[in-house]
Amino acid sequence: MELKSHRFISFFEPEQAAQLSRVAIVEQLPDRTVIFEEGERPDFLYLVLAGKVEFRKCQNGNQYKTVAEALPDDFFGEFGILDGQPRSAQAIVCKQATLAKIPRIGLIDVLEKTQSTVVLNLFSYIVQRLRTTTEEYVKELVYKDRMVLLGETINTIIHDLKSPLSAINLASSLIKEIHPDKETIEWSNIIRAQAQQMLSMAQELLEFSQGQGELHKNPVNLAEVLQTFEKLNQIYFQQAGVELFINCPDDIVIDADKDKLLRVLQNLANNSVEAFKNRGGRIEVMVWSDSKIAHIKFYDNGPGIPEKIHDRLFESFVTYGKATGTGLGTAIIKSIIDAHKGSISFSSSKDEGTTFNIQIPIG
Ligand SMILES: Nc1ncnc2c1ncn2[C@@H]1O[C@H](COP(=O)(O)OP(=O)(O)OP(=O)(O)O)[C@@H](O)[C@H]1O
Ligand SMILES: [Mg+2]
Repeated sequence: MELKSHRFISFFEPEQAAQLSRVAIVEQLPDRTVIFEEGERPDFLYLVLAGKVEFRKCQNGNQYKTVAEALPDDFFGEFGILDGQPRSAQAIVCKQATLAKIPRIGLIDVLEKTQSTVVLNLFSYIVQRLRTTTEEYVKELVYKDRMVLLGETINTIIHDLKSPLSAINLASSLIKEIHPDKETIEWSNIIRAQAQQMLSMAQELLEFSQGQGELHKNPVNLAEVLQTFEKLNQIYFQQAGVELFINCPDDIVIDADKDKLLRVLQNLANNSVEAFKNRGGRIEVMVWSDSKIAHIKFYDNGPGIPEKIHDRLFESFVTYGKATGTGLGTAIIKSIIDAHKGSISFSSSKDEGTTFNIQIPIG
């Protein structure tokens, strides 16, 4: 963009705008140019004309965390110019940027001659921006606090779950030994698998709260995953009056973490069943593939996802209409799909139910 049409310049009367343009120095800066370091004395205000600038805070001595960014029409560095305090973060060019820098003395000179309405407009814009930044910061703080709390709670739960789960495992093994018929063995295996599932669910939740969640990838046959999913949910679906339809070719094999894929399906299924609210319903899972991607379509004929949360569905702690919802189900789904370098989207309405479309790279 041109300097004269930049937001900052347009705050001023034509005469002052022209003066600012005269003193501004336009520079094209390559990727990773450090514009200023944290702690430096401020000497310029910067207007972004093209490209992107990132602001980073140094953590643990040498690691940087990006805390904000500036795009064309944004300006930065005004606080240091006004109060003379050192820079609060490092500013660095991302890819390439064109900046106009206005020297402190030139700017102060113009501000002194400017009408109070111009200063007021500028001031209210800066306050507005500060407010947005503060809101984001507070949101992040609250989010972090909740994640830490979640991690601590899950740790306790995992600890307490271990002994009853070992007892369940032992009991199911004993039942198999006493009644070694095919059906009893099958049901005992389901009890074991579900007990194990409880523990790995808690473990995954713990990893999610700590932001790790390692993938254990292997060749996975999707038809087999769906068979396991069906088996594990047989009783759950029966009790909830849910009909399950699966359409999946036998030969789609992808490089994936089988347990995590099961978690994705389970979280989707839980949401569908909870949305049916004991009235029963239909779930359809359709799988197909092209040469590179496996597609999974997960449909339910429930009442649809409330429109209010469509924009934020995959964010953590977004829940709606459930007394005990934590709002983590879809956030976990998204983190698993992202870890597989796949994508997920949904369409949902009152009349047409809900469809999640998942794409996962095959190899
Ligand atoms: N298939 C669906 N049909 C209708 N509403 C849905 C469906 N899937 C999700 N939702 C809505 O989206 C919200 C967020 O879902 P999400 O799974 O992230 O959290 P949750 O189910 O509320 O809690 P949690 O999964 O952690 O127990 C739900 O509270 C529900 O209102
Ligand atoms: Mg859920």
